[in-house]
Amino acid sequence: MAVNYDQEKQDLTRRNFLSLAANGIIGAGLLGAAAVFGKFFWPNVSYGPPSKFSIGKPTNFGDGAKLNIADQKVSIIRHGDKIGAISMVCQHLGCTVAASPTGYDCPCHGSKYDDKGNVTHGPALVSLFWFDVHPTPSGDLEVDKSKKFSDPDHYYSIT
Ligand code: FES
Repeated sequence: MAVNYDQEKQDLTRRNFLSLAANGIIGAGLLGAAAVFGKFFWPNVSYGPPSKFSIGKPTNFGDGAKLNIADQKVSIIRHGDKIGAISMVCQHLGCTVAASPTGYDCPCHGSKYDDKGNVTHGPALVSLFWFDVHPTPSGDLEVDKSKKFSDPDHYYSIT
């Protein structure tokens, strides 16, 4: 019986091709899985708004003013000649509180804060943060969210 070496050589080539293709598919799959696995360890950083922002001149806020800056999640309040910036992030689980006639209410689980951010009703246990407010050389006021205080009544005095 005669052996057709050309046919065997051709089968071997086809086998090699199929083997290479299978290895390529498996390799691509492994690379994709490795990429997804590696991304798991990479920090998912959110570059949010800057920590410092201007709120304009002190005269923009009349006595008793309460201005909520939604994109910064900060409430600017003025009591007499003092201006403060209160965080609107609930201290329970981080929902954004809404202004209410008595202060701030959290829509998520019902925490309530007075107009200075003190807890008046749980489940939150801690008061809202206050942020630093200071003047800039131009005379505008600037809020610095990188400097926060857990004690209420952290005002900037206009006079
Ligand atoms: S997040 Fe505000 S009460 Fe739970």
